[in-house]
Amino acid sequence: MKTLIFNGSGRKNGDTENLIQELVQNLDGEYKIVNTFDGSIKACVDCRYCWTHPTCCVQDGWAEVALYLQECDNLVIASPIYFGELTGPVMSVLSRMQMFWAAKLFRKETLPIKPKRGGIILVGGGNGSAAAAIKTASLLLRQMNAKEIGEEVFCFTTDARKAADDPAAVEQVKKLAQFFNKM
Ligand SMILES: Cc1cc2nc3c(=O)[nH]c(=O)nc-3n(C[C@H](O)[C@H](O)[C@H](O)COP(=O)(O)O)c2cc1C
Repeated sequence: MKTLIFNGSGRKNGDTENLIQELVQNLDGEYKIVNTFDGSIKACVDCRYCWTHPTCCVQDGWAEVALYLQECDNLVIASPIYFGELTGPVMSVLSRMQMFWAAKLFRKETLPIKPKRGGIILVGGGNGSAAAAIKTASLLLRQMNAKEIGEEVFCFTTDARKAADDPAAVEQVKKLAQFFNKM
């Protein structure tokens, strides 16, 4: 079993990273974590090369991630909430999925991505709603061929305590791992 995890936080040992660690400790099989803040993957600029070619013309870390994305069984978007949404870097990296969208829409190919299960992990200080982030993450997971999405993991009290110290969030992460392990 292979799990691909997009980490939308830039904070080392932060709340998102701590919950990701909790997830992988309970997960069967292998996993890959993409740290979207590290700058190794550029944003899609809608150059439209992929409308007629089966690859992306930008040569960077995305090529390796795209291969893993195609073959993995589980996909997780884990992000802090910034202004009610997923963070900019995670959205920027995931914009590169456009090459898969183009395969289907413009090149009329079957989506070259194995059907998978999806997971959403969100953390926030506690000010505002996560509705927009959930909607965006769900849309992105569906576009990446997630047929089923597990129960969302939330921790919205990080201004007061670390997500890793929130028993409800830790329990939800373990349930997400079980959901993936069931395959
Ligand atoms: C630019 C910025 C915007 C933020 N916007 C929100 C928000 O809209 N709602 C919220 O609950 N927390 C917000 N936060 C707080 C973070 O989500 C919170 O500190 C989170 O625990 C950071 O996760 P990390 O440690 O994994 O990076 C914001 C933080 C920053 C830096």
